[in-house]
Amino acid sequence: MSNYIDLRSDTVTKPSEGMRRAMYEAEVGDDVFKEDPTVNKLEGYAAELLGKEAALFVTSGVQGNQLCLNVLTNPGDEVICETDAHIFNYESGSPAVLSGIQIHPVKGNYGVMLPEDVEEAIRPVTAYYMAHSKVIAVENTHNRASGAIIPLENIAALKKLSQKYNLYFHLDGARIWNASVATGIKVNEYASHFDTVSCCLSKGLGAPVGSIIAGSKDFIKSAYRVRKAWGGGMRQAGVIAAAGLYALKNNISRLAEDHEKAKQLANVIAENPNLEIDLKAVQTNIIIFKPLNSSVSEAQQKCRDEGLLLSVGKTDSLRAVTHLDVTFSDIEKSIEIINKVFL
Ligand SMILES: Cc1ncc(COP(=O)(O)O)c(C=O)c1O
Repeated sequence: MSNYIDLRSDTVTKPSEGMRRAMYEAEVGDDVFKEDPTVNKLEGYAAELLGKEAALFVTSGVQGNQLCLNVLTNPGDEVICETDAHIFNYESGSPAVLSGIQIHPVKGNYGVMLPEDVEEAIRPVTAYYMAHSKVIAVENTHNRASGAIIPLENIAALKKLSQKYNLYFHLDGARIWNASVATGIKVNEYASHFDTVSCCLSKGLGAPVGSIIAGSKDFIKSAYRVRKAWGGGMRQAGVIAAAGLYALKNNISRLAEDHEKAKQLANVIAENPNLEIDLKAVQTNIIIFKPLNSSVSEAQQKCRDEGLLLSVGKTDSLRAVTHLDVTFSDIEKSIEIINKVFL
C-alpha cells in the first residue's frame, strides 16, 4: 500500500523510527508474573494520565471494551449504548458470546444520547422477566458519527442517571485523545466521570498494537484474571508496551494536526456538488461523506485507481480518516483526486 495515500483508518500507521527505537531498547520480563518493567511503566503512566487507581495493557480496543463489560455484568444483564456504537456494531457480537449479555441501543444525535431517552431504556428493577440494566456506555469520540465529540455536560447528565439507577458507567474512549486535544478538556477530566475506560494506543497515537483499560484497583484485578482466561496474558510484552508508552508521551498533542487535515479535506468535499457531507459532524479526524451520483463501491474503486484509499463509513457513505502517516501534501493530493473523481 506504499504507493497509495491511505485514509481508510487511523489504524494503518506504522511505528516511527523513534517508536521502533523505544521498542528495541525496551527492558522486558514475563508480564504474566507481572515482571515486565516496561508494561508496568506503561500501566502506571496510563493510570496517572487517566486519573484512575490502576490500568491494564490489553491487546485491542475490542478486548478492552469487552473486558470492562464482562467484569461489570452478569449473564442476562444489559448494556445501554448509542445505536451506532462500536460495541454494538463492530465487536463480532462479543457481548453475547463472551459475557452472555445484551445491548440496548438508544438512538443519538451526533453520537450523543439524550438523558431522557436513556432513562426510558432503563428497565425497572422489579421486572424479573426483563434483562437487568447494568451499564451505560458512551463512545467518545464517536466513530460512526464522523468522530463527533460527546460534550462533557451530556456525560455529566448520563453519569447522574447511572448513579440514580445504580448502574455502571463505561467509556469507549478509543479516541478520547482526539476529543481531549480538540476541546482542551484533559483526558482525566473526561475519565473522572466513568467507572471504567478503554482507550486505544494503536489508532491516532500510532502504536502498532494495544489498548489500555483503567478503573479502580479491584476492577483491574478482576479484569486481569478475565484477560488471562481469554488468552490475553502476554509474556515479554514490554516490546509492544514501549511503543504505547512512546505514543502516550509523544503523539497526543500532534493530533491537532490530524484534525486540521480533516477540516481541509472536509471543506473541499462540502464544496463539491456531487458529494454530500455534514460538516458539523467533522470535529476531529474522521470524515464521512456520500457520493451522490455513483455507488459507494464504484466511488471507492475510482479513488483507489487514482491512488487514494478510502473505507466505507455506513453502507451509503465513504470514510476518510487522517492520521500521523499522512502529510499535508498528501491531503492536497487527496483533494485533487477527489475533485477529479467526483467532477
Ligand atoms: C470507537 C472504537 N472502539 C473500539 C474499537 C476497537 O479497537 P480495535 O480495533 O483495536 O479492537 C474501535 C476500532 O476502530 C473504535 O473505533
